[in-house]
Amino acid sequence: MADQPYYVTTPIYYVNDKPHIGHAYTTLACDVLARFHRLDGDDVHFLTGTDEHGQKVEKSAQAAGVDPQTFTDQVSENFRTLAAEMNYSNDDFIRTTEARHLHSTQELWRKIRDNGHIYLGSYAGWYAVRDEAFYAESELTKNEKGDRLAPSGAEVEWVEEPSYFFDLSKWQQPLLDFYAANPDFIGPDTRRNEVVSFVAGGLNDLSVSRTSFKWGIPVPDDPEHIMYVWLDALNNYQTAVGYPDTESDLYSKYWPADLHMVGKDILRFHAVYWPAFLMAADLAPPKRVYAHGWLLNRGEKMSKSLGNVVTAGDLVGRYGLDPVRYYLLREVPFGQDGYISHETMVGRINGDLANDLGNLAQRVLSMIAKNCDAKVPQPQPLTDDDTTIIGAATNVLGTVRDEFERQAFHRGLEAIWKIVGDANRYVDAQAPWELRKSDPDRMATVLYVLADVIRRLAILVQPIMPGSASSMLDQLAIPADARSFAALGSEPAVTPGAELPKPSPVFPRFVDEEAAG
Ligand code: ME8
Ligand code: MG
Repeated sequence: MADQPYYVTTPIYYVNDKPHIGHAYTTLACDVLARFHRLDGDDVHFLTGTDEHGQKVEKSAQAAGVDPQTFTDQVSENFRTLAAEMNYSNDDFIRTTEARHLHSTQELWRKIRDNGHIYLGSYAGWYAVRDEAFYAESELTKNEKGDRLAPSGAEVEWVEEPSYFFDLSKWQQPLLDFYAANPDFIGPDTRRNEVVSFVAGGLNDLSVSRTSFKWGIPVPDDPEHIMYVWLDALNNYQTAVGYPDTESDLYSKYWPADLHMVGKDILRFHAVYWPAFLMAADLAPPKRVYAHGWLLNRGEKMSKSLGNVVTAGDLVGRYGLDPVRYYLLREVPFGQDGYISHETMVGRINGDLANDLGNLAQRVLSMIAKNCDAKVPQPQPLTDDDTTIIGAATNVLGTVRDEFERQAFHRGLEAIWKIVGDANRYVDAQAPWELRKSDPDRMATVLYVLADVIRRLAILVQPIMPGSASSMLDQLAIPADARSFAALGSEPAVTPGAELPKPSPVFPRFVDEEAAG
């Protein structure tokens, strides 16, 4: 459907650290969805940004010897650089230290408070700064040294101070009802079941303010208290579309968000706390939260202390941007944990990209350049084989849309590459190089059909590999306004007689420097 609003968000990343490929992965998945929906005619708003308040960031600033604002100004830039490096098409970049967010979040607090869901008490319990999360004694384990650790492995400290509380315990039933009424709210299904059983096990009221540090948003009418950083951070999704002005064009168009994409580490905050905060403020919860798995390097989650951190720049510098974008979403079944490795990367680059799609385009375009005067050939009436391959390349959009709608990127790509395989088999079966002498008219038809199939494949892969797809479409002389999904089914497709530029390979093979000597 045309002009449907589509609002997709990434987590806002902590600025205590430089971005690595894990952050790049989450935002990449959102970028692909944003680009897909734009090509599908939707009205997209794609948000990313940085989470700049809280004790963890305050401590990192202290360690760096600068004040928190200077620190966050610097580190936040690294995430903007990442966006440029990865060719993300985000419409906005939010920072929680912006004035718009302070205002929005204080208004959200007032609304929840005025609705009677916040009370003053005092907190005594365990807190993990690394996770910015409170834990019950029963959730903790001890390491060899006897330090208490959160389930995430983060160290906890004892906190005892006056605190405002949110009456989370009262939201158990409303949340369970909400999950039951909205079966697609949490994906994938295994994660949904985990959240439902967690909530069914009972919820404690949640401490939502701190008094022992300053770096955060002051509680309205009691500025000694700083808001809990997760309440502050989650509300970024509303701030960016104009909250508290719920009548604004942006808010009325885009809220509730269509998708919050997150890693599995922060699902509880998004699927339990966030809908409860919103319901407590009479606001609509998001339509869907999807929690993907970990990218693992050498079998471990990447971390500075393990020394196995890979950045987007490392991979892009070695393999190229679009191959990396393709690889990350094709190699690891989205939702599960998965390894990245040089071997599988090279396998995808030389197999799926260079041999399959790249070679298809290159051999067809060179035959047209050599045998058809570098012009799109004029076809004769099409045979069943011709219409079958064209039909398959058109209809695969439906499959890709369904798979991407469930965030099953690997399966959507698999469906496209099945057509790439069909097209290569069609080339071999039709053998246009043999038709050159025996039946030049038929050769022209076969090359026309292939040019048109390549056009469709290039249109389909635009969300994943925007640069390479556009180079393929340039080589087929497809005008900029004929590259949306609506153009997939349009006739004439490629224009017979259109002059084509000199072909150049889009997906070079990766040659291992070591193997090559
Ligand atoms: O949690 N594999 O920020 P954060 C895959 N500020 N994804 C990974 C990853 C890995 N190895 N490592 C990190 C926060 N990620 C909060 C969010 S939202 C209102 C506030 C990704 O900087 C993944 O998306 O710790 C994970 O959820 C996120 O980075 C955590 O980023
Ligand atoms: Mg984290």
